[in-house]
Amino acid sequence: MQLIALTFTSPLVPDHVTVLDATGKFVMPGGIDPHAHLAMNGLGMETVDDFFSGQAAALAGGTTMHIDFVIPVNGSLTAGFETYIKKAMKSCMDYGFHVAVTKWDEVVSKEMEIMVKEKGINSFKFFLAYKGVFMVNDELLLEGFKKCKSLGALAMVHAENGDAVYEGQKRMIELGITGPEGHALSRPPSLEGEATARTIRLASFVNTPLYVVHVMSIDAVEEIARARKTGQRVIGEPTAAGLALDGSGVWDPDFITAAKFLMSPPLRAPGHDKALQAALSTGVLQLVGTDHCSWNSTQKALGMNDFRKIPNGVNGIEERMHLVWDIMVESGQISVTDYVRVTSTECARIFNIYPRKGAILPGSDADIIILNPNSSFEITAKSHHSRSDTNVFEGTKGKGKVEVTIAGGRIVWENDELKVVPGSGKYVEMPPFSYLFDGIDKLDAKYLSSLKAPVKRFKSTA
Ligand code: URP
Ligand code: ZN
Ligand code: ZN
Ligand code: ZN
Repeated sequence: MQLIALTFTSPLVPDHVTVLDATGKFVMPGGIDPHAHLAMNGLGMETVDDFFSGQAAALAGGTTMHIDFVIPVNGSLTAGFETYIKKAMKSCMDYGFHVAVTKWDEVVSKEMEIMVKEKGINSFKFFLAYKGVFMVNDELLLEGFKKCKSLGALAMVHAENGDAVYEGQKRMIELGITGPEGHALSRPPSLEGEATARTIRLASFVNTPLYVVHVMSIDAVEEIARARKTGQRVIGEPTAAGLALDGSGVWDPDFITAAKFLMSPPLRAPGHDKALQAALSTGVLQLVGTDHCSWNSTQKALGMNDFRKIPNGVNGIEERMHLVWDIMVESGQISVTDYVRVTSTECARIFNIYPRKGAILPGSDADIIILNPNSSFEITAKSHHSRSDTNVFEGTKGKGKVEVTIAGGRIVWENDELKVVPGSGKYVEMPPFSYLFDGIDKLDAKYLSSLKAPVKRFKSTA
């Protein structure tokens, strides 16, 4: 731990203390990215960013913790968890995990229990898309939701109707639309809306909190808004890319340029991005993730003749803090206080690690950034810290730059230079029963008492 004094004026400090002058700048809790995939395997390949390069990029952009997704190994959560703990050994910043559930039996049910009670997990992701790989049906979803509720763990959903997406993909191929635009056309916003509506209603039926990851469309936003108006505990996470971009890029005549925009759910037609911004500013959506899942051009090129073979995913772990500042604060859509909430504090509260994370308080981890609102940034693949050779935000310029990142009490980013040490990041255990579970038992009791006593009937004599 370095001794660091953040000064707005210049008080007298002993000379073994590093002094950072924050005059005219904002001193804030480091960002927490609730959604990134580092060293993820897909289509037989691994993403170019592993836990070291992805986290180094994150630190250069003012994010000091991320939550990754454990992908089960042959359906086993335990094997998946062990695999990811190994991948994360080279971490240079703190991290936590969500665990995906892709099949259902007694073993998986027991493993969920072990994950929560012994491994520091308090959230499970269910994919309604990726038919034949990760996709779950409604029966599994209900079993999973019940289990999450009993453990005090948050159910998360990737909301797209996987059967309909599969049908849409066949339709595109039959029509000869094999390029990246076929990806977007095969999975329209309506399929995201349907799956969002369905999971929200099933979570309501079980009476358990729900977290919708990577909300990309107006259709999904409307379902979340409707549910929240009824008091249902539904959290919605837009991504940096979804807020900053529309999906016109997949129509680029250059294949590699088009393919870099490909992710699931897809970036949408112009207008959805603005609606996501509005939903974030009005509290319909609560926190911003990235879904950082970076592939280089040669990997994307494997889908040259068939969009179904293009690995899904865009970058954002380094860009999120800058983009949210520029798009939301600089434009006047949210306050600086709200910025801290949507990039850090709310994530810490939802995943029950507040105030260790998401705050600058006595006893909190010293994860702190200095953001200069008058400095500007420009995003390019040449200058970014990700290992990817492309950047979905290429050429984006904006105001508000993270000039200093302090992670775990050490200055790791200053004067555009990274000082990161592999292995210095810590695994952050996330305990169950966050505030989202407060009073759930009372709601259950109210539901039970609303049911009439069983009707007594006379035996039929006919
Ligand atoms: O395109 C995406 N989102 N890739 C990562 C996997 C997921 O669905 O989150
Ligand atoms: Zn997903
Ligand atoms: Zn994801
Ligand atoms: Zn940089």
